[in-house]
Amino acid sequence: MKRFFSVEDVINVYDIIKEAINLKKNPYCFQHIGKNKTIGLVFFNPSLRTRISCQKAAFNLGSNTWVLNIHRDSWNIEMKDGNVMKDTQEHLKEAISVMNLYCDILAVRTFPHLIDRDYDYNEVLFNKILSYSKVPVVNMESATLHPLQSLADVMTIAEFIPFFSKKKCKVVLSWAPHVKPLPHSVANSFSQWISKIEEIDLTITCPEQYDLYEEFSNGVYTTYNQNEAFLNADFIYAKNWSSYINYGKILCNNNDWMITERKMKITNKAKFMHCLPVRRNMVVEDSVLDSPNSIVLQQAENRIYASQIIFLKILQSLS
Ligand code: CP
Repeated sequence: MKRFFSVEDVINVYDIIKEAINLKKNPYCFQHIGKNKTIGLVFFNPSLRTRISCQKAAFNLGSNTWVLNIHRDSWNIEMKDGNVMKDTQEHLKEAISVMNLYCDILAVRTFPHLIDRDYDYNEVLFNKILSYSKVPVVNMESATLHPLQSLADVMTIAEFIPFFSKKKCKVVLSWAPHVKPLPHSVANSFSQWISKIEEIDLTITCPEQYDLYEEFSNGVYTTYNQNEAFLNADFIYAKNWSSYINYGKILCNNNDWMITERKMKITNKAKFMHCLPVRRNMVVEDSVLDSPNSIVLQQAENRIYASQIIFLKILQSLS
């Protein structure tokens, strides 16, 4: 594997899930592969889970890491080409080229600004980094996708309902309310990964004008009726996202979309999922998040092994 931007960089989704589950059982067995290697983690935006799980994954592989918070800890970086740099001190081109001297893999987080849809959906910043980098680049959440999260999510589902037994299950990706306009990356990516798994029937439920971009939700049944979607569901994955059609806007403030204990009763004793961080009693009621059916911590734990299997595949391709 020479880069990891999306599920399309994975040869076989079933195999990568199996390998991640095996790594979880024996996390230190590939320390010889990561020895004397360095993984650089570059954050243009905040993070708790991605940052620490990637560091832990690298540690498990015997690798070193460094972390850089762009803007807070670095010089102000110029992203545009040809600008007279009056307000910025270092161009992205030099910054990435120099970072390349200090690592074997470069992992990057680049959120969308949710202002210019073409800029975000063309992944302009991530693609610039890809073009400047001579070492493999890993997506730690870009403008449109969060593939390390999705790999952890499908791995978590597989631990409860092994796909390999060919048992079908119903997974619902439900929009939930939020006070701020949020990116689409978790929802897009989850839909994209699930589409590769035959044993999962995915339903998306959201208010009108919140349909995901069709490239990522292609063929997925979408309903504006949350109660209908929840019927007989085995997993409820809650997430807020802003509108794609009316780009980056909040069009619905209806708290009725919050995931409640009452709604979970419609399901087939569904497991509750969320990528975290989550706003309690806005996205989901306390009682759902604190219930035995909440598997949000398993998802967070599996972030380690999702990152670890991707770093491992890339490190193996270097040697
Ligand atoms: N789920 C997730 O990516 O968490 P962080 O933003 O804290 O990394």
